[in-house]
Amino acid sequence: MLTFLALASVVLLGIVPEQSQAIVIYTGWERHGLVGSEIRLSCSFFSWRWTSDDVTFSWTYRPDGSRDSISIFHYTNGAPYVDNKGPFRDRLEFVGNPSRRDGSILIKNLDFNDNGTFTCDAKNPPDIVGRPSSVRLLVFEQVPIQAGVITGAIIGVVLGLLVLIVVIYYLMRFLVARRVFSLSVSKHGKKKKEGSQQRQGPAPPADPSKVKAATSEKKKQESRKDKK
Ligand SMILES: *[C@@H]1O[C@H](CO)[C@@H](O)[C@H](O)[C@H]1NC(C)=O
Repeated sequence: MLTFLALASVVLLGIVPEQSQAIVIYTGWERHGLVGSEIRLSCSFFSWRWTSDDVTFSWTYRPDGSRDSISIFHYTNGAPYVDNKGPFRDRLEFVGNPSRRDGSILIKNLDFNDNGTFTCDAKNPPDIVGRPSSVRLLVFEQVPIQAGVITGAIIGVVLGLLVLIVVIYYLMRFLVARRVFSLSVSKHGKKKKEGSQQRQGPAPPADPSKVKAATSEKKKQESRKDKK
């Protein structure tokens, strides 16, 4: 029993100090962006201690196919520093909130060649032992353009169909109204004609020549009726 307690305390003493000093850093795992757009690369950490005023974040970048990482950003002594060399010197903005353990950066105007691995390291003194975390960035050019074209085509087709349906609907209404009108005129003469004209309601403005034709037909039929 004593041996067990001794062992347990050794194990606990071994674990606890390590835990209480370790800092665990989180980034995403992979992010996708479009050429020309911007992307937020987030970085946060977990630490057993209160958030220190001396929190630091640092970001490095390793392009795909390269073995060397370059430093691109530091947050230290309460101020952000963008490295004045390298591919992101004009395109990087600090968008984190160190008091909330957030060391996120924004990469603007993404380039096709930005593919690579971004690594974030954070320290929350005296909690400084932790493993940096990495996020892979993939910048796409072609696929989103195709997707955009497809989306546009679908929207276009849907809109076209809607317009077609509306046009057909009004055309049918117009034709049906005309047909009822002329049928009633030819079969039942004046009285019914007036009724059907009222039913016709706000029909789309008719082509003046057609109106004339209809009127002349009306007159013809009226005169025929008069002759009888
Ligand atoms: C970046 O990654 C994407 C996705 O894998 C790929 O399509 C593209 O060709 C890559 N860009 C470069 C410059 O290699």
